[in-house]
Amino acid sequence: MNIAIIGNGKMGKAVAALAAERGHGVATVVNRIENPEGRALTADRLAGVDVAIEFTRPDAVVANLERLIRLRLPTVTGTTGWSNDLPKVTELVERHGGALLHAANFSLGVQLFLRVARQLARSFRGRPEFAVSILEEHHKTKVDAPSGTALLLQRELWTEEPGRRFPITSIREGDSAGRHALTYESRHETVSLRHESRSREAFAAGALAAAEWLPGRTGIFTFEDMLFGAAG
Ligand SMILES: NC(=O)c1ccc[n+]([C@@H]2O[C@H](COP(=O)([O-])OP(=O)(O)OC[C@H]3O[C@@H](n4cnc5c(N)ncnc54)[C@H](OP(=O)(O)O)[C@@H]3O)[C@@H](O)[C@H]2O)c1
Repeated sequence: MNIAIIGNGKMGKAVAALAAERGHGVATVVNRIENPEGRALTADRLAGVDVAIEFTRPDAVVANLERLIRLRLPTVTGTTGWSNDLPKVTELVERHGGALLHAANFSLGVQLFLRVARQLARSFRGRPEFAVSILEEHHKTKVDAPSGTALLLQRELWTEEPGRRFPITSIREGDSAGRHALTYESRHETVSLRHESRSREAFAAGALAAAEWLPGRTGIFTFEDMLFGAAG
């Protein structure tokens, strides 16, 4: 496969390294300086590319996606912090018959963690004696807070217990690739479910698996759709 990588930061570099290991070609890497408002994403620049993988920033991602969708280039994005624009981007994908897969977290462990978290929420439903909280910790250069994964977790928990508050605390320090914990706590006991990412490679592997899966499909997908199918 011939891949275009949009964003040459920590994740862009991790994807490029793993793509080479897996025998994929990296046709081009697009960086911020040359790409204001997605202007480097042209048919010429992306000729011969099978799929784009986008890891940039919340303030850049939507312009990039708009360009890539209009070019009908299958695109995988892991950038977080743009969920308010999802309806607009979905409409564009549908209008242009494009293919987009987005995920706030491309690690398999997190996807399974989210499933177990729902079971936990179901078990604790209607037990107000247990206070519930979400804690997320990331490296100090992460721009958005709360993390996309914490927001996803919160949405999943609301499907099990609508109306309950699931407050999120965000910590930005050190160089953690990501820690998330869901905790139920009463006066006398604590039940906690934790996930820790120890390396960005898990995210890069998930994004590449998505990039292998997406071409040939049309529509808007999540990593969960890919892993577990539309029925979940
Ligand atoms: N889905 C997942 O599994 C997952 C995993 C990890 C991270 N993330 C998310 O992915 C995003 C990137 O993370 P990261 O750790 O790689 O951050 P990062 O190291 O800050 O990299 C972001 C890169 O995007 C570049 N950029 C900004 N605007 C651009 C544009 N218009 N065109 C091309 N490149 C542009 C930045 O360039 P400059 O340095 O010049 O500004 C930077 O190199 C974040 O939103 C993060 O939350 C998701």
